[in-house]
Amino acid sequence: MSVATPSSDYKRITTHRLQEMKRKGEKIAMLTAYDFSMARIVDEGGMDVILVGDSASNVMAGNETTLPLTLEQMIYHASSVIRAVRRALVIVDLPFGYYQGNSKLALDSAVRIMKEAGAHGVKMEGGSEIKDSVVRVLSAGIPVMGHLGLTPQSIYKFGTYSVRAKEEAEANKLLEDAHLLQECGCFGLVVEKIPAALGQQLAGQLQIPVIGIGAGGGVDGQVLVIHDMLGINNEFKPRFLRKYADLHSVILQAVSHYIGDVKSQDFPNQSESY
Ligand code: KIV
Repeated sequence: MSVATPSSDYKRITTHRLQEMKRKGEKIAMLTAYDFSMARIVDEGGMDVILVGDSASNVMAGNETTLPLTLEQMIYHASSVIRAVRRALVIVDLPFGYYQGNSKLALDSAVRIMKEAGAHGVKMEGGSEIKDSVVRVLSAGIPVMGHLGLTPQSIYKFGTYSVRAKEEAEANKLLEDAHLLQECGCFGLVVEKIPAALGQQLAGQLQIPVIGIGAGGGVDGQVLVIHDMLGINNEFKPRFLRKYADLHSVILQAVSHYIGDVKSQDFPNQSESY
């Protein structure tokens, strides 16, 4: 079993520390969390970045897409995570409908996430089309992480969750958008489901860290959804996903065992009673 080796010391991770990690070639580990108890464990394990992703819409609320999630729900998840975390940098997704096409709304939404949840920065999906929102949020001193490639908030535009930027035109647009986000002042970039060669090219060209999910090993770090990598959701099996546990089976077994013990009156026994 391999053991986590948290980078150098236990001081709080900052966006500057991530830049330094990229310069030194130290890979960045990022994972989602949405609640206090899970975030406490993830932070204790030495995670560099915790993403309060809008994947909460899928794995916490059971929605088919990330679109229904509200800003209030995001603030609820983010504040629970922030209360648990001592070391990791905590980045929070701006939910769908709170920044696209309206930079004033983007700033107001990001300010609420920073003020009410105590987040350390926000993530926004898209390139040139959200430039005004990105610039306005950055102008308030709020760190912004970009997100390109497969951007689930635009799923109805794409039509599928298949690999993005396989064609030259889309790959060029992605490279242009990535450079634009860096020039605007984003501190990092998530790229989702793109060819490994493009991920490597991007990480080589940009000064800011590029974190991949289904973007191969040539990027500066990796991010996964915690429910997926712990095997809680056993129906989701994309090629990029490595499962580090089978918690679906573990939980199912424990639940069945408990039911059996209650029905047979084995639980509670004398030592478990007052
Ligand atoms: O919402 C999320 O969990 C994400 C990751 C997949 C990067 O954006």
